Amino acid sequence: MRDILVAGNWKMNGSSTANAELMSGIIAGVPEGSGFSLLVCPPFPYLASVAAQAAGSAVSVGAQNVSEHQKGAFTGEVAPSMLSDVGCEYVIVGHSERRSLYGESSAQVAAKFQAAQAAGMTPILCVGETLEEREAGTTEKVIDEQLDAVLDAAGVEAFGTAVIAYEPVWAIGTGVTATPEQAQDMHRHIRGRFEALNADIAASVQILYGGSMKGENAAGLLAKPDIDGGLIGGASLKAEDFLAIAHAAAQN
Ligand code: PGA
Repeated sequence: MRDILVAGNWKMNGSSTANAELMSGIIAGVPEGSGFSLLVCPPFPYLASVAAQAAGSAVSVGAQNVSEHQKGAFTGEVAPSMLSDVGCEYVIVGHSERRSLYGESSAQVAAKFQAAQAAGMTPILCVGETLEEREAGTTEKVIDEQLDAVLDAAGVEAFGTAVIAYEPVWAIGTGVTATPEQAQDMHRHIRGRFEALNADIAASVQILYGGSMKGENAAGLLAKPDIDGGLIGGASLKAEDFLAIAHAAAQN
């Protein structure tokens, strides 16, 4: 059985004070339960302090982005080794906001995925279609292209230490959640692609759902056989909202 991962993507939110309060609320309220893990992904400047606060707790820390380069003249970028140095175990790559607002190509996302793994971190590869793409009936094609860029560069075995997040762009930050059935259909499609390549990886790879996931809808999504957790934006910014999802995961 795959464990469930509940990951908070704080995006560009927080402050030293607010983060410390959020982390103590999360750590104090982590539900008892086996087979699930909690992760928070703060902005770069706070990674070290959040990781220090999380040390010894059940909460892991990840970054929201990473450079595909190792070091050198890349002003404003953060190297993979720097993230692992300050305690990151995971890094989100290819979030739709990075793809659409910062022009990250699938090839660049694949390079970031590999760079994260080379530094010993687990990449969380985000894939997802826009509303236009869904309405045009091209959802599966879009997801396949996003996955293929990484599969071609890194190979299927690389997904033995990676997480996938299916995040329909139309559901991110909109309050509109994919129904459990819509999400399950896409998760099944993604896992099916891996089944054709490597049965062991297909069975083990965690596929998270992201897009307006919250306490009220988490249980229905997590009950689906191919949904192995969530990548949570808005509802990860308040301890009680994030913990409501963690409780749903613990009871799953
Ligand atoms: P949301 O964001 O939960 O606010 O929709 C999810 C994400 O962007 O990862």
